Amino acid sequence: TKSPMRVSVSGAAGQIGYALLFRIANGDMLGKDQPVILQLLEIADEKAQKALQGVMMEINDCAFPLLAGMTAHSDPMTAFKDIDFALLVGARPRGPGMERKDLLEANAQIFTVQGKALDAVAKRTVKVLVVGNPANTNAYIAMKSAPGLPSKNFTAMLRLDHNRALSQVAAKVNKSVTEIEKMCVWGNHSPTMYADYRFATTDGKSVKEMINDDVWNKDVFLPTVGKRGAAIIEARGLSSAASAANAAIDHVRDWALGTNGKWTTMGIPSDGSYGIPEGTMFGFPVTTANGEYQIVQGLAIDAFSQERINLTLKELSEEREGVKHLVG
Ligand code: NAI
Repeated sequence: TKSPMRVSVSGAAGQIGYALLFRIANGDMLGKDQPVILQLLEIADEKAQKALQGVMMEINDCAFPLLAGMTAHSDPMTAFKDIDFALLVGARPRGPGMERKDLLEANAQIFTVQGKALDAVAKRTVKVLVVGNPANTNAYIAMKSAPGLPSKNFTAMLRLDHNRALSQVAAKVNKSVTEIEKMCVWGNHSPTMYADYRFATTDGKSVKEMINDDVWNKDVFLPTVGKRGAAIIEARGLSSAASAANAAIDHVRDWALGTNGKWTTMGIPSDGSYGIPEGTMFGFPVTTANGEYQIVQGLAIDAFSQERINLTLKELSEEREGVKHLVG
């Protein structure tokens, strides 16, 4: 049998945490033959820690065969000790009267501390996924705060956007999601993201040619995917949680176990591909194998796509500028 992998989840008592932990412990993320140890991080606040204890009671009550251990933490220095994976879900939500700038700064502080803690105590091979918003910039800050770890170990979650795009396109061409390949999403996890089905195929046929409707792309598809988070809040009264948790599982599973040549989307530090400045935490089409991701190269970027990519890049550059004074 395999030796257990250590997985840390922050924001473990939150709504995404509640939808995520059970699936990790069930083997949905790292495989049905891979034992896991959960190292759960929450803020020191008494209510949060108590809620975390409640979640842990429920996890115990599932008697998951793969769960080899579980601990509660309020300090990232203990929560991240020797971990193989970090799913950084906990973040500061926007409070009343809070400006975007305040939100960026509050989160910059959290992700500076957590990046430093990862640098100090995590395994050198740790794979980090940032879910907490603003996810790309938070991931960027954590990466910059951990100079002792390879930058490529830090990623941001664009997978929910990717899955949303996949589901919309599959419905449009009347196929199942498994029949659609080569979908991708470029840029920031925000309404500026650019979901791109120009390269998508089904049974080897071009999805773009099947849809053949640029107005639908521009006026229906892109706004539907871009504003999906808001639509869910409007309908459910709460933000997406189970779908976000599912996307986190998909992201880490594909990163760890490989996509067999298939494309997916990950927010990763740019290597300069497609003119995205090096280090920018940007959604790219990738394939993964042997625990490494590779950007899909050589895709033609038409004028409309370039415009959309520029827009989401501009937003990310502004976020990055806004936290510059906090990052070394
Ligand atoms: P939530 O408010 O239900 O839970 C967040 C939890 O994080 C809370 O229990 C809180 O105590 C904890 N937390 C806050 N700061 C922390 C810190 N410094 N260390 C450890 N724990 C901390 O929120 P929910 O719905 O679970 O969402 C979590 C985050 O995920 C939000 O920032 C949300 O915007 C983001 N999100 C990102 C998505 C993406 O696609 N990248 C999709 C959906 C949500």
